[in-house]
Amino acid sequence: MRVGVFLALSIAGALGASVAAAEGAAPFFFAAGIALAFLGLSGAAAAAALDLHAPDDLRETRIARGPTFPSPFPDDDLERATFGKMWLAALGAFTVLGTVPLISLARKPGRRVLSGWRAGLRLVDERNEPIRADRLVVGGIETVFPQDGVDIPEAPVVLIRLPADRVRPAAGAAARAGYVAFSKICTHAGCPVAIYRAQSHELYCPCHQSRFDVTNGAKNVSGPAPRPLPGLPIDVDADGYLVARADFDAPVGPDDWYRVT
Ligand code: FES
Repeated sequence: MRVGVFLALSIAGALGASVAAAEGAAPFFFAAGIALAFLGLSGAAAAAALDLHAPDDLRETRIARGPTFPSPFPDDDLERATFGKMWLAALGAFTVLGTVPLISLARKPGRRVLSGWRAGLRLVDERNEPIRADRLVVGGIETVFPQDGVDIPEAPVVLIRLPADRVRPAAGAAARAGYVAFSKICTHAGCPVAIYRAQSHELYCPCHQSRFDVTNGAKNVSGPAPRPLPGLPIDVDADGYLVARADFDAPVGPDDWYRVT
């Protein structure tokens, strides 16, 4: 029975570590899962060794035929078939754990953990207050963040309210109200794109004067920025607050940030 308990711990640890790695959880959870898996395995091996160790005073009585008595093996609550299946399950859990490093080959480096945005998150101001859909007047601009993610460096978004007829056709009440939202981090060298010129509907980057047309997907119209500012799809929820419909539509910041060297 003790062996079974240790094997169950080992299986739980190996699968937990696999899930932690797949979900990009903090390294502590991955390490704790691995530690539990190996502790369970070593505990199972030690318990099995103890169970198989015959007591010192055990003497086998020699008889001509018939079964050995007393049995040299201790009684166990686990049936032999269950016992074998648990060892196989532990082996399977460790096999899953061994494939975890392959996940990192298929994932864009840091993409998900960096931006902080996902579907359903409300847009908030720097005090973490949600933004209502009537917050900005036409021509207004505000820097916003994902709810509870004000401190995430790659999360800042420039929220702008355009005349409704200047917004590119897009789904949702936010677009119909004239709202557009783009990453505030310049795609050239990562400066904050902080200047908005309402007459021309352009965002300016103060570092090297790149300009982005917010009526056309923040396409760069001049300056050294190599690509548009990533857009954040937004909508209005049932309570009248602006929410994200998904993560950014492109990686945030300069392309160098994603280059693997
Ligand atoms: S950092 Fe924005 S143009 Fe260079």
